[in-house]
Amino acid sequence: MKKKDAASSEIMNPFAVTIGLDEGLMLGAKNHLGRRASDMRGYYADEAALEQLVAAGDPLHYEVFEVPVPEQAGHLMYCISKLLPGVVGDEYWMTKGHYHEVPGTAEIYLCLRGEGYMVMKTADGRADAKRMVRGQMVYVPPFWAHRSVNTGGEPLISFCVYPAEAGHNYGDIATEGFPQRVFRRHGQPVIE
Ligand code: F6R
Ligand code: ZN
Repeated sequence: MKKKDAASSEIMNPFAVTIGLDEGLMLGAKNHLGRRASDMRGYYADEAALEQLVAAGDPLHYEVFEVPVPEQAGHLMYCISKLLPGVVGDEYWMTKGHYHEVPGTAEIYLCLRGEGYMVMKTADGRADAKRMVRGQMVYVPPFWAHRSVNTGGEPLISFCVYPAEAGHNYGDIATEGFPQRVFRRHGQPVIE
């Protein structure tokens, strides 16, 4: 069934939202997703190190705050993504990563705080990684799966905007993985 678009719905009213740029939160967020170490099983190279982390209290890995809008073409979904610092073995903490369920939809990430990488890939074998630091905007084009990686000592906080109908496809990345991963080597991030 074709999804409705904004043009076929009632005109909604404007609204405004307060964002904590340094804290990485969105006041009045109705959707709050939190992923812990135990939610990341299967994503890191060093599975034993991840299990140690889970056993040691299963810390929060990352959070996403959203004030949702209708998931219809014409609307823009937006969120704050807050990825905490840490390593699993030698691999920096990262998000699961995903394609969009509607693959031809792009996304903009504006980094507000911290440092790291946006790691990206396409299904036809291309790979790229862009540095994220405060003030850096990363454009994730349509058809690129994307994952953020925190290589710093403080939260990596980004503001994201994408077409509201995009959705998330985690399944393909859970099986394919990303060809590029970011490890700490002699204290420095290295993309391998
Ligand atoms: C939305 C988007 C971000 C991520 C967030 C968490 O399309 O890319 O808001 O959802 O950074 O990462 P995932 O969704 O990969 O667990
Ligand atoms: Zn996305």
